[in-house]
Amino acid sequence: MDREARHSMSEPEICIRKVQKKDYKKVVKISIDSFPEEDAEEIITSLFEIEHFYVAELGGGEGVVVGFVVFGIYSIKTTHIMILAVESAHRRKGIGSKLLERVIEITDMLPINLIRLEVRLTNTAAIKFYEEYGFKITGTIKQYYDDLSDAYLMTRKIEKI
Ligand SMILES: CC(C)(COP(=O)(O)OP(=O)(O)OC[C@H]1O[C@@H](n2cnc3c(N)ncnc32)[C@H](O)[C@@H]1OP(=O)(O)O)[C@@H](O)C(=O)NCCC(=O)NCCS
Repeated sequence: MDREARHSMSEPEICIRKVQKKDYKKVVKISIDSFPEEDAEEIITSLFEIEHFYVAELGGGEGVVVGFVVFGIYSIKTTHIMILAVESAHRRKGIGSKLLERVIEITDMLPINLIRLEVRLTNTAAIKFYEEYGFKITGTIKQYYDDLSDAYLMTRKIEKI
């Protein structure tokens, strides 16, 4: 059975929508769970007004928020994924993929030829996840994080037809 079939069997309806004020607490909770090394609340507070902040809601309508992604378009040529996370109980069901697909969809509509992000060297799950989507490790950024850990820079080129 292919991935799409497996994910559609194990996962009910997922809706990707813009974040709303009512989502704040849940998004902070997912961040604390996903990034124990960071000051998750400070990060989410600083990103909350960003235009491209989407949540994944399980069960449609008034469903439960189980993941989110925040990205920025800083120059006309690059999309920067700042943070993407899925609640641990809901991983490996295709939700991260749906969030990343939204980033790619929006990027495809713009004159952008690169998506970039940073990831901890020890975060093998995220590295594998991004590699599945054609991202490659293209550099190391020394002391990128507040605790002075290094980050890999991962990038994916966007081919425009
Ligand atoms: C990385 C993360 C977002 C992936 O979300 P997810 O919803 O579990 O991802 P998906 O179910 O869409 O996975 C798609 C594919 O990525 C790969 N993948 C995802 N997690 C993986 C893991 N732990 N180990 C190996 N491969 C993995 C697999 O190929 C997977 O397909 P499969 O399940 O059919 O094998 C999630 O693990 C997470 O929230 N981690 C903590 C936060 C984080 O590190 N964010 C990234 C840095 S900003």
